Amino acid sequence: MLDDLLDNNRAWAQDIESENPGFFEKLSQQQSPEYLWIGCADSRVPANEIVGLLPGELFVHRNVANIVAHTDFNCLSVIQFAVDVLRIKHIIVCGHYGCGGVKAALNNNKHGLIDNWLREIKDIYHHHETRFRPLDEEARVDLLCELNVAEQVRNVCHTTIVQDAWDRGQELAVHGWIYSIRDGLIRDLQLTVNGKDQIDPIYRTDPAELPNAS
Ligand code: CO
Repeated sequence: MLDDLLDNNRAWAQDIESENPGFFEKLSQQQSPEYLWIGCADSRVPANEIVGLLPGELFVHRNVANIVAHTDFNCLSVIQFAVDVLRIKHIIVCGHYGCGGVKAALNNNKHGLIDNWLREIKDIYHHHETRFRPLDEEARVDLLCELNVAEQVRNVCHTTIVQDAWDRGQELAVHGWIYSIRDGLIRDLQLTVNGKDQIDPIYRTDPAELPNAS
């Protein structure tokens, strides 16, 4: 089984190299992606493939249910490196309909450690509970998938990393998208945030209080 993967890899590398001689040698010198993708770990949502980008074009962070927890130093470190060092211009939070993590958050079964991770999604449900009452189960999952993207877009914007970038005048937009595993298409949820004035005042950091390096 694993031999198949290694065979696939050799064929893949050959294909790219024959279409674009020197591709890997050039990439080995540097990466300069313009986008950071924050998506679900689900095997049906492969980041590069669904947006048609090659190695070197997309910086990627994936976890179960595309959550941006403000105490997750893994996700925060990815955002910080992407924004401060790579100077990416767009952060795309991409959820997907039928997300298993979101479904798990909507029932009361125990799944182990991951229930603590998915608690964040139960909080979103709880906050919007009245909107769910008239819906059937599938529509509930889909609505919670969309509300989760919106929440994670806000979480990205509320980080000191993104706000400091805006304070420096760095061009940076945060987007919320959702992918359908039924037809392979992405829908823009029209949640794009380009600056501090678009975030709730309680979460704004005062630029005058920026740590001074001098
Ligand atoms: Co998912």
